[in-house]
Amino acid sequence: MDREYSAKILLVDDQPEGLLAIETVLEGLGQNLVKARSGKEALWHLLREEYAVVLLDVQMPDMDGFELAALIRERDKSRRTPIIFMTAAYKSEDQVFRGYELGAVDYILKPIVPEILRSKVSVFVDLDRQTHTIRRQSELLREAERRQHEKQIEDALAFSHAVSHDLRAPLRHIESFSGILVQTYGDKLDDRGRDYLQRLAGAAKKMMRLIEAMLQLSEATRVEVHREIVDLSRIAASLEAEFRQSEPQRQVDFIIQDGITAAGDSHLLRVALANLLCNAWKYTGKRARARIEFGKTDLDGLPVYFVRDDGAGFDMSHANKLFLPFGRLHARSDFEGTGIGLATVQRIIHRHGGRIWGEGRVGQGATFFFTLSHRAAAVGSPGNGA
Ligand SMILES: Nc1ncnc2c1ncn2[C@@H]1O[C@H](COP(=O)(O)OP(=O)(O)OP(=O)(O)O)[C@@H](O)[C@H]1O
Ligand SMILES: [Mg+2]
Repeated sequence: MDREYSAKILLVDDQPEGLLAIETVLEGLGQNLVKARSGKEALWHLLREEYAVVLLDVQMPDMDGFELAALIRERDKSRRTPIIFMTAAYKSEDQVFRGYELGAVDYILKPIVPEILRSKVSVFVDLDRQTHTIRRQSELLREAERRQHEKQIEDALAFSHAVSHDLRAPLRHIESFSGILVQTYGDKLDDRGRDYLQRLAGAAKKMMRLIEAMLQLSEATRVEVHREIVDLSRIAASLEAEFRQSEPQRQVDFIIQDGITAAGDSHLLRVALANLLCNAWKYTGKRARARIEFGKTDLDGLPVYFVRDDGAGFDMSHANKLFLPFGRLHARSDFEGTGIGLATVQRIIHRHGGRIWGEGRVGQGATFFFTLSHRAAAVGSPGNGA
């Protein structure tokens, strides 16, 4: 039995003597009795708490029991709360039917017979206790399921982390030996031989990128988040310099809003921004001149950060795939990629208590928005990601 459990019983009567009489009878049940002297007061209580049963005096001056019962039934919170009417006499059968229509489950005649009142109320207390127990059990079950699910994900990530880690060493050998082979024996091979060797090196490089991406994804899930004030504008600027260095021939205008700071993990937020800006850089790759923006706006007074580009964009009807591991909206022949970047970004944002979503139009660019706190996470925003 649940030791913390105590049913709430609402007693409604305009007469203090009436309330006292019922209270005396029900005290022995050891439950929580709440008294109301008017319909208004009763509704106030019913809005705030759930009750096992309401004992309602039919004759009250401001609002009679029937009117009050109708109002109780109109409200979601008390739509199913059992009501027992207390009345001095059945005035007519009509009145009794009206009471039942309004959701009364029982009538008690005054003067009250203590044993009858107690046994009727006990039925509802038992029912309430059972509902309470079932609710509690299903909460525990859900919690256990959630923990098991988390454990499965953790195990899978630990496994993929270990495998990825161990694959790196032999792959490095393949990479370095194929390099040596090209350098040392390249002139001894014919064109076809050199082509095979180049393909081998290319495939090893691709595999290395995939392994690095998987390690980054598992790291984003596993490492502890250390919060500090992070200068996001500075991170964005240093990433811009890296991209420019890697492809100096490209014409890209970077617009980075100054002084954007946030409380978060500096390493993880750098990884997140690197992935978002890398996407912006990559998916604008086919434009003669591109524009990439990093800025901050607000949604109902809460900070929302964004990375915007004017590149290839994407079809919003497939946006639900954006954040899934290996989810790609572009063909590999158009844009290289493993499809793990945004899944990593989403994990990082979630671990900060925020949410992320993307907006795009084919041929007209994309914008990725994210928040970094729980409050901001509650605000409505477009449906993908989150
Ligand atoms: N800025 C963007 N513009 C257009 N499409 C984008 C943009 N960012 C992401 N996408 C789409 O979302 C998909 C998932 O992005 P994600 O970063 O996870 O993968 P990726 O860039 O393909 O590979 P990688 O794992 O190397 O980052 C991409 O394949 C692309 O189709
Ligand atoms: Mg990417």
